[in-house]
Amino acid sequence: MLDHASLGILLQALQKLDAGFAKLPEFDSSIPGIDRLEEVLAATAERLQDNYPYFHPLYAGQMLKPPHPVARLAYALATWINPNNHALDGGRATSAMEKEAVAEIAGMFGWTHFLGHLCGGGTMANLEALWVAGRLHPRKKILASVQAHYTHGRISGVLQLPFESVPTDALGRLDTDALGKRLERGDVGTVVTTMGTTATGSVDPLPKILALREKHEFRIHADAAYGGYFVLAENLDPEAKQAFARIGEADSIVIDPHKHGLQPYGCGCVLFRDPGVGRHYKHDSPYTYFSSAEMHLGEISLECSRPGASAAALWATQKLLPLKKGGEFARGLERGRKTALALFEKLKKDSRFVTAFTPELDILVFAPRANSTSASSALSRKIFEVAAKRDLHLAVAELPIHFWEKSLDGMKRDRETLTCLRSVLMKPEQLQWADRIWELLSETTSEVLSGKAAAQE
Ligand SMILES: Cc1ncc(COP(=O)(O)O)c(C=O)c1O
Repeated sequence: MLDHASLGILLQALQKLDAGFAKLPEFDSSIPGIDRLEEVLAATAERLQDNYPYFHPLYAGQMLKPPHPVARLAYALATWINPNNHALDGGRATSAMEKEAVAEIAGMFGWTHFLGHLCGGGTMANLEALWVAGRLHPRKKILASVQAHYTHGRISGVLQLPFESVPTDALGRLDTDALGKRLERGDVGTVVTTMGTTATGSVDPLPKILALREKHEFRIHADAAYGGYFVLAENLDPEAKQAFARIGEADSIVIDPHKHGLQPYGCGCVLFRDPGVGRHYKHDSPYTYFSSAEMHLGEISLECSRPGASAAALWATQKLLPLKKGGEFARGLERGRKTALALFEKLKKDSRFVTAFTPELDILVFAPRANSTSASSALSRKIFEVAAKRDLHLAVAELPIHFWEKSLDGMKRDRETLTCLRSVLMKPEQLQWADRIWELLSETTSEVLSGKAAAQE
């Protein structure tokens, strides 16, 4: 995990940063508590050991991975200045970097004229998109699929906007027949289209939703917090590819650089196709925005103080790994999907497992076969625990039975959901580890199914 070379590079960059301020008079900067720095930092490192090894290819559980070294270093570098991107007064350089980096993200979706900025993460970005949706269609409903991120319902509650869920099909995608029927009844302001659901990475059928927008007037908000970067991947199945190809037709898009964009946490992004929605942010503050007539990011953002360091990290990462099809960054996303497909093929052929559907992105779900869905659910939890003892870290998820119908065969359906295993294969290097992951999963499953794991407790 430790990368000594990069610390040397950080030191050089810090010296360069310092040189920019060399003409200032010396000052005595006594730092409170500095003599115990080493001791306290060591104690911090010790506390941080109590974490799953998110950086390792055998951590194949939730959507977690460390940032790219350039992001980590650029972030650290910027904290020596600690710019605040609320206003140009607080972060002139990093505000410019944010505008450039966000324009590159928008460009990925084909947008050149847009409004957008970084924010704390996917929840904050979605809040902002739904806030604008509510301003444009006050009192009209927000619809999202039952597999959309749970915060859409909660955010609508915060904004006091009425919210309704739409069912999904057997592939975990928003059911457009059900949506069509709901739209006939009217009163819908915005439909949230999830471009990569949190649980299964399912991609809602955006082309069909766009066709419905031709008939009924509503806004489309694309929650691409997880999946957005897959617009660059060239190994998706046709339906997902077609959905991503049209994402630029949505009215707003959320994408999380802190998920697939190699950034540390605290980096979400919201984009609006119509820059005119900026009028909803208008406010009169007597104490900010005096340094220039140029646009301050705080004038188009709900949050005030925001880390300029996030912008520096994102800007640097995109300089190193540009957001383009066929580039190194895009290849990394493609590798994640390849890993998910490789493991899916192994699971499908192995009678010890049941699978739901082919992963559309890089998220895989599966469960052990048993006499009943409740027995399978209990075994999933056991496999999750025993695999962790072998250093293979998976996640568990609770998914509706109709996702599994095709492979349940004679299993008794005594539950409405199946507790299954879920693996987010978002680290490109996991492709080389697919065989090892499979070996550990296979050994763990044999141990659990033979009852040895229970006997050892
Ligand atoms: C599709 C989707 N939307 C929104 C979110 C919320 O993002 P955050 O955790 O960054 O607030 C997530 C998080 O997993 C997500 O997968």
